[in-house]
Amino acid sequence: MTDLDDHYPALSDLYDRARRRVPRFVWEYLDSATGGESAKHANTAALDAICLTPRILSPVEPDLTTTLMGRKWSLPVGIAPVGMSGLIWPGAEVELARAAARAGIPYCLSTVAAATPEEVGSATADHGWFQLYPPRDPGIRRDMLSRARNSGFKTLILTADVGTPSRRERQRRARLTNPMRLTPHIVAQAALCPAWSFATLRSGTPRLRTLEPYAHGGAGGTTGHIGYQLRVSPDRAYLEALRAEWDGPLVVKGVLHPDDAASLDGIADAVWVSNHGGRQFDAAPAAARALPAIRAALPDMPLIADGGVRSGTDVLRLIALGADMVMLGRAFHHGYAALGPAGIDHAIHILRTGMLADMGQLAIVTPPEVRARL
Ligand code: FNR
Repeated sequence: MTDLDDHYPALSDLYDRARRRVPRFVWEYLDSATGGESAKHANTAALDAICLTPRILSPVEPDLTTTLMGRKWSLPVGIAPVGMSGLIWPGAEVELARAAARAGIPYCLSTVAAATPEEVGSATADHGWFQLYPPRDPGIRRDMLSRARNSGFKTLILTADVGTPSRRERQRRARLTNPMRLTPHIVAQAALCPAWSFATLRSGTPRLRTLEPYAHGGAGGTTGHIGYQLRVSPDRAYLEALRAEWDGPLVVKGVLHPDDAASLDGIADAVWVSNHGGRQFDAAPAAARALPAIRAALPDMPLIADGGVRSGTDVLRLIALGADMVMLGRAFHHGYAALGPAGIDHAIHILRTGMLADMGQLAIVTPPEVRARL
């Protein structure tokens, strides 16, 4: 990794290279949030504001091994679900799954991925989580659950923060449709990025492949359109039905209010504190803001958190506030779009070595000990 470390020492270097390599409409899809993007900016600002106080004269051998929901992971880091990863660069879902398995971290496949659970399952090598946008039709729900289970996904993530569509203005301006329509506007942007265009031509137009069997009359329209045709805003009864149908770990994603978190005690195995990368509600607090009250409400519940993480230091900051596992969405896609599979490995390496360096500074052996350095 020495060479990559010199050229791309930070995740921001992968961000810069990815941005140059993908067409503008793809970048707008990945990078954008909703509204004025204050929730997205709040994610990074809230992390930047957290200080952790180093200690001296106590050398340590840090150990990043993390246990979550009864399972060991090599780092307290994982890959968050991102819809249409394969649009950002072809093959993303399988390569992210493989990289996660190599590193011993979880990879979460989205319902609205460009690859199916059947295609990605074996690449996860038992490191896969499946994220569910809750289908309105219980028959479709049961079918999706059995496809995920039969493909080797043992942990289910219910994303609960997408009840109503958000406006995502940048995405609209970029005029991205699903399936991708080759308008002159799109072709002109793609022509400026030949490596992306050739790779995409070779692998075929990225589509919402998991949903296709359920999209009667074909998978036309925008990503939001098909997704919203199928999905429902889940209530307590829905969650209970899902709990009855899924015998593995069940996680609820998109929680920001401590009362909502408390209501999940006894039914969810973990709570995922997230504002969806700022893509759903522009006035939503950052996970970093919401975590302390949620941790106070649920002292023993495993907590997962995400949003705006750009370094190992940020991972430790979220753990300091109460998270047990920290997920990143966009950053791993920057790594893959920048450098292919080696870019995902490199992003994980940046996070791992950053955490190890910081834990030396903080004189802590395990990540949760960081809570004593706030
Ligand atoms: C997402 N996210 C998301 N979440 C989810 O539960 N299902 C999904 O299909 C998607 N799709 C998606 C697409 C894109 C392009 C982005 C950027 C994000 C949210 C994602 O899981 C995670 O919460 C955020 O990405 C975390 O913020 P960072 O790490 O991207 O800043």
